[in-house]
Amino acid sequence: MVPHRTLPSPDSLAEQINALLEDPATTHGLSRALRATAKEIELNRYHRASSKAWPDGRIDTTPTEVQIGGGGHHIEGFFNIDAVPPADLLWDVREGIPLHDDTVQFLFSEHFLEHIDYPRSAKHYVREAHRVLATGGRIVTGVPDAAYALNKYPAGVEQADEVVERWYAKRDCLGDINTYLDLINYVFRDQDDDPTYTPHHWAYDHEKLTQLFTEAGFRSVEPWPFDPAIANPKRQWGSVYVVATK
Ligand SMILES: C[S@@+](CC[C@H](N)C(=O)[O-])C[C@H]1O[C@@H](n2cnc3c(N)ncnc32)[C@H](O)[C@@H]1O
Repeated sequence: MVPHRTLPSPDSLAEQINALLEDPATTHGLSRALRATAKEIELNRYHRASSKAWPDGRIDTTPTEVQIGGGGHHIEGFFNIDAVPPADLLWDVREGIPLHDDTVQFLFSEHFLEHIDYPRSAKHYVREAHRVLATGGRIVTGVPDAAYALNKYPAGVEQADEVVERWYAKRDCLGDINTYLDLINYVFRDQDDDPTYTPHHWAYDHEKLTQLFTEAGFRSVEPWPFDPAIANPKRQWGSVYVVATK
């Protein structure tokens, strides 16, 4: 007979992780892995609480204008779904979008997609967006434009000042950006080991976004003219946005 095993709860695991993180004998590599796990456990705690309220993965209301991963960026009239506070609904969107089929007119996200893994979660998210949008509904997606940084690469670090100034001036990584390739690495790995955010998992450009939304069944994908009434003004520079229509 197979012995009955009790699974550890994520919360008890988090306590053990914290104890290990405080132990000076814990190596750097293990600490990095533990911090990433602790972050996932915290996110999972919010998700479990919400999915207890809506076990079939569909909330009661049917918002028509929805922002995904808005963080602190509030858009008047939009229902904001995010993995962590502040948000109208705390939900890990890698598990799906908790809205009913064909109910949403406008979905908006910026600097979110690159924070979920590709292909599994990114493709699942785009298929879910297609499911929840009404026919004719639109999804706007903005991400850091990897093509922008890559196109500048031959220019060398002396031409990188504007990128550094606009993207990293307020960050603690400046001493580590010594060559233009360091900047490119940040596009692909930004927020690695960050206490708040999940890191960049995949880089995008216009072509990749177009392919992703086309593959999921959207009938058109076009460049989105940046609208600061909706988008976070600090994202305008160095980002690529598309609007896909169902
Ligand atoms: C870099 S912030 C961008 C915030 C805001 N959109 C902006 O442009 O200022 C990424 C946001 O995506 C959210 N996010 C990351 N992974 C998520 C997931 N799996 N489900 C829901 N939201 C997620 C984060 O919590 C965070 O608020």
